[in-house]
Amino acid sequence: MRKKNIIVVGLQWGDEGKGKIVDLLAKNADIVARYQGGNNAGHTVVCGDLSLVFRLVPSGILNEDKICILGNGVVIDPSVLFQELKELSTVGINIKNRFFISYKSHIIMPYHKRLDTARERLRGAGMIGTTGRGIGPAYEDKVARLGIRAVDLLNRDVLYNKIVLSLKEKNYLFKNVLGEDVFNPDDLIEEYLNYGKKIKEFLIDASIYINEKLEQGLNVMLEGAQGTFLDVDHGTYPYVTSSNTVGGSSLAGVGLGPTKIDEVIGITKAYTTRVGEGYFPTELKGDDGKNIRDKGEEFGSVTGRPRRCGWFDVNLIKEAGRLNGITGMVVTKLDVLSGLPKIKICTGYMLNGSVINHLPFSSSDYEKAVPLYEETEGWSGDISQIKDFKDLPVNAQKYILRIEELTGLKINMLSIGKERMQIINLKNIF
Ligand code: IMP
Repeated sequence: MRKKNIIVVGLQWGDEGKGKIVDLLAKNADIVARYQGGNNAGHTVVCGDLSLVFRLVPSGILNEDKICILGNGVVIDPSVLFQELKELSTVGINIKNRFFISYKSHIIMPYHKRLDTARERLRGAGMIGTTGRGIGPAYEDKVARLGIRAVDLLNRDVLYNKIVLSLKEKNYLFKNVLGEDVFNPDDLIEEYLNYGKKIKEFLIDASIYINEKLEQGLNVMLEGAQGTFLDVDHGTYPYVTSSNTVGGSSLAGVGLGPTKIDEVIGITKAYTTRVGEGYFPTELKGDDGKNIRDKGEEFGSVTGRPRRCGWFDVNLIKEAGRLNGITGMVVTKLDVLSGLPKIKICTGYMLNGSVINHLPFSSSDYEKAVPLYEETEGWSGDISQIKDFKDLPVNAQKYILRIEELTGLKINMLSIGKERMQIINLKNIF
């Protein structure tokens, strides 16, 4: 039987703890590939004294016998990439012949970053709360056929002409609409050609590479960044990121066909968080939210912004289960809920006198939908060293079983602490 190929995807608004789970699951995958997003993502992996935050390189990189790939769907800021590679080399992680980048991936340029922050300023109160890393403008350029691909960094004329073309409209905008300084292609070209020299050794055709490896009997894990409800189509638009984050897009993001995938694993926290603006029905604005934030250390790993915290939302997870075709779930940060006397689960929303079991369709309905809760008894004590489900406090077991029942999704694993090994295994994924 061939080895399983799997997709790992966030079921909420990002920050579900995918980094730790991908790092863990990477033991069973020969290749780990990212398919979308850029350095707006932040995935933390803790191993002993080592706590590393990756923004770009796949979370599997700490597993030294694994191949890691940035697919064509990823947008790359070379300055961040080379900083990360330097950090990896400082802690002794060897990436030679096992880290690759699709030559089709797009490059984030300094003008994308300036456009991102200037646009947010222009939006005023309606700001998205982007990470300001130029992600949106880089994807816009890709779709507008004005983007710079990684391979373009290898050729002076191609790169120069593409920068000139891309800046034609943008410099007009900077000068006349956004009140920003314009960019001169001559100031950018040498720096980016230099990145080209450094990136060259990593460039591959990810589709050819991955498909060939699968033919040879290796397997792949496709690692999603952000989460389902930040998806540009299926998320809480317009407060979303600018790529498709759902599992389906992973295939286009690396150049693989749908018939190759065996499992789609969704990661969710035992509660809910969100950074940036936008709809969040179960948000806790008072002390309860602050308690979860402090205990769960809920501060953005990229921007340091405090994360908004709230109760587990069944509607959200059921919807994410459907959008991604989830075959199993991992529930993270269960330990953070220890010590709360009562825990609530949102089971649906009341909208215009009826209960709905999906997200409202329009943003005006977002305002009107009222979450419906059931309350469960909490538990106390440190659960972070427990290895067996049956050793968890009874109320923690009940909470998990209730989540399975309400969402209709099976749970494969529980994460009960930051460390790699703080995991309770319920059902093998591989
Ligand atoms: P952008 O991706 O920087 O354009 O930001 C768009 C929205 O997505 C903002 O609300 C960000 O806070 C959010 N976002 C982007 N990346 C992540 C992530 O990795 N985790 C959580 N939120 C994110």
